[in-house]
Amino acid sequence: MRFMNKNLFKVLIFTTLALFINNCDNDSKNNKQQKEENKMSITKELFGKADGKDVFLYTLENKNGLIAKITNYGAIVTSLIVPDKNGKFDDIVLGFDSLQDYLDGHPYFGAIVGRYGNRIAKGRFTLDGVEYTLATNNEKNHLHGGIKGFDKAVWDAEEFESNDGVGLKLSYISPDGEEGYPGNLSVKVAYTLTNSNELKIDYEAETDKATPVNITHHGYFNLAGAGKKDVLDHKLQIDADKYTVVDETLIPTGELRNVENTPMDFKTPHLIGERIEQVPGGYDHNYVINNNGKMVKAIEVYEPESGRIMEVLTTEPGVQFYSGNFLDGTNIGKGGKVYYKHYGFCFETQHFPDSPNQPDFPTTILKPGEKYGYTTIYRFLTK
Ligand code: GLA
Repeated sequence: MRFMNKNLFKVLIFTTLALFINNCDNDSKNNKQQKEENKMSITKELFGKADGKDVFLYTLENKNGLIAKITNYGAIVTSLIVPDKNGKFDDIVLGFDSLQDYLDGHPYFGAIVGRYGNRIAKGRFTLDGVEYTLATNNEKNHLHGGIKGFDKAVWDAEEFESNDGVGLKLSYISPDGEEGYPGNLSVKVAYTLTNSNELKIDYEAETDKATPVNITHHGYFNLAGAGKKDVLDHKLQIDADKYTVVDETLIPTGELRNVENTPMDFKTPHLIGERIEQVPGGYDHNYVINNNGKMVKAIEVYEPESGRIMEVLTTEPGVQFYSGNFLDGTNIGKGGKVYYKHYGFCFETQHFPDSPNQPDFPTTILKPGEKYGYTTIYRFLTK
């Protein structure tokens, strides 16, 4: 009996071991197969019509299953679906399900803004002795390209695949005189969803007359998932010693002020909500990035519950940190979710606001024969 038991025990151990090894082998085969099958892809569907033109929605998927949905109306990123620390995917940008919702008006959700992102005081500037008057759409000021900026244009779009990832190249010709700007401006914006889990944006422009140019992406992010809660418990770090001080209409006074010992200081990580009450109206400020025109990690933001991290890398000298202060629950977003105050934040990489009227700020004037261009990367990680 004892002998039988011992033998039976041995047989059981061997069988279990054999089954286990076989299972592991199958698992690794499955994983390998899955990886091979998990190729990047791009699909295109009709989203509707604007300005009498067809508008499409493109779905980009990288090798790791991250998804970006982009429409050629306003070059808008409508969805960005990324994993949390447990591998659960969620949409982390604010936006709408239908084109009609975008056409009905919204605060630049996920759009490319231009020709001049941010404000130009009273919509006026002088260039080569000529005074130009732009459309004013933010009280007395010009904001984000005017009444019909790049965020409301129907762009041409072309899909591409590279070793790096899968992408969409959008182009738009902004005609001479559009919203008051001089010169025909040819703009190209390439979004790449890389296999390193980044949304990379390459901006290019050329003009036939001198003109101010300051193009940016106006994505509203919430790393907990869009529409779930506010962003006040996200931990934020910004590599900036200074910010541009603004007046009550958010136009820079020209002063670059040190952030040290103020609620503006994010040189070390702080919760967005920690000192927001001390900043009248909330954060809506241009930070001066310590980068000297080089590509650096300017921002890191972390949401502890999901473990999601977003890094922002840019070659631009500034970034507007906007804490979604004007969101007020009137926007019903994807899946019927309501976007209340502080439900998203934006990091708009840019030159400083009102640069055409601020001789001491880095220039934003593009001349014929010159090439405008820069890159910003939104990178997604977990911990
Ligand atoms: C930018 C501006 C804000 C606001 C938002 C959109 O971030 O700086 O003041 O206009 O866009 O509402």
